[in-house]
Amino acid sequence: MDMQPTVSIVGAGPAGFALAAGLQSHGTSVLLYSHPTHLRHANHVKRNGHLKASGLMQGFTHFPITTDMAEAVAFSQILILTVPSTGQETVLQELRKFPLQQHAIIAIPGNLFSLIANVDVGCIFETNLSPYSCRMEEGGLTVLGKKELVFIAALQRDLNPTIHETVASLFPMQLKWCSSVVEVCLSNVNGIFHPLMMLMNAGRVENTLGDFFLYSEGLTPSVANAMVAVDHVRIKIGEALGFRLRSAVEISNECYGQGFGGFVDLAQNSPPHNKLKAPSSLENRNISEDVPDLLVFWCQLAEKLGIDASPIRAVITLAEMATGVDYFETGRNMRRLHLEHLSRAELIERFGIIQERMVINSSRL
Ligand SMILES: NC(=O)c1ccc[n+]([C@@H]2O[C@H](COP(=O)([O-])OP(=O)(O)OC[C@H]3O[C@@H](n4cnc5c(N)ncnc54)[C@H](OP(=O)(O)O)[C@@H]3O)[C@@H](O)[C@H]2O)c1
Repeated sequence: MDMQPTVSIVGAGPAGFALAAGLQSHGTSVLLYSHPTHLRHANHVKRNGHLKASGLMQGFTHFPITTDMAEAVAFSQILILTVPSTGQETVLQELRKFPLQQHAIIAIPGNLFSLIANVDVGCIFETNLSPYSCRMEEGGLTVLGKKELVFIAALQRDLNPTIHETVASLFPMQLKWCSSVVEVCLSNVNGIFHPLMMLMNAGRVENTLGDFFLYSEGLTPSVANAMVAVDHVRIKIGEALGFRLRSAVEISNECYGQGFGGFVDLAQNSPPHNKLKAPSSLENRNISEDVPDLLVFWCQLAEKLGIDASPIRAVITLAEMATGVDYFETGRNMRRLHLEHLSRAELIERFGIIQERMVINSSRL
């Protein structure tokens, strides 16, 4: 692994631009890659000649932007993926064309990217959330919040610890090293918040085309009750695997450095959340990413572990009925993740807590 501060960011949306601006301001050279058929934000920034940031980041920044994955791979041995998990396969098709044994990939968020990647790479890391909460419009980036903590794990449990230090140096916040990518996936609390807020407010979303505050107006006590039921299953999965997962509100509090007592309190009073407008339709990643790439796995994992997953299954089924999409089939089900033949005990052994997880002096990287 070279020690030059360079990073290629694969995915030119708000999360990628915010990360790039943050890294560049700390002296890291950044190249942004945008897939040639996904140039919405990159084209605006190119046309404006700069990225204009407001909110928690201020000012104008210039970045090189490429649509050529060969350039991104040559620019840096660290590739940070900031496409939604629904776009990971598209960029993987490009990445698989290159030898990447000397590279590290960090998927933000991972949503079990490691298990579908099928790419010969030095190592893969996954996070639960994006370091920044941000939105983009016409090439302008608004940064609404910055996490204080991000959950992360490596797929490989035998990496040289220096790679962990290199990865940590890229994040402008503390990292919580988890025992496996499954613990990280279970810590992406968007799966608790987003689908239920969307589905239980579907009429309002479609009536107003999203002209209301999704959290402060849409996360009311009965929506919160449903979230608690789904969260209970997630926590039970953690128990079966030996993780002491905290509640979704506690994880959000940890990540944002807040101290809210419950879902409604958070929705009403959290500055990065309470002024967020709802999306204009149900065709939004709050459903199209979080239902297939989080809830489908959580549901099937719970069932394999012998846990009653009916609250999660109910949310997926409702999303399927409302959108007409078969998320159990299209999402990250056990078959797509190559886990369908693993027994309960094998799942626990592979992804649960093990005592010695970092073996020093690995030859990898
Ligand atoms: N923004 C936030 O505050 C925030 C917070 C927490 C987590 N996250 C997560 O971070 C990830 C990135 O967020 P974002 O807001 O930057 O998302 P985004 O704008 O929806 O997508 C990021 C980039 O990926 C591209 N993309 C989308 N689908 C693709 C595909 N199939 N193939 C190749 N490229 C594709 C987009 O291009 P097009 O737009 O042109 O399709 C865009 O350039 C998401 O998983 C999101 O859930 C974001």
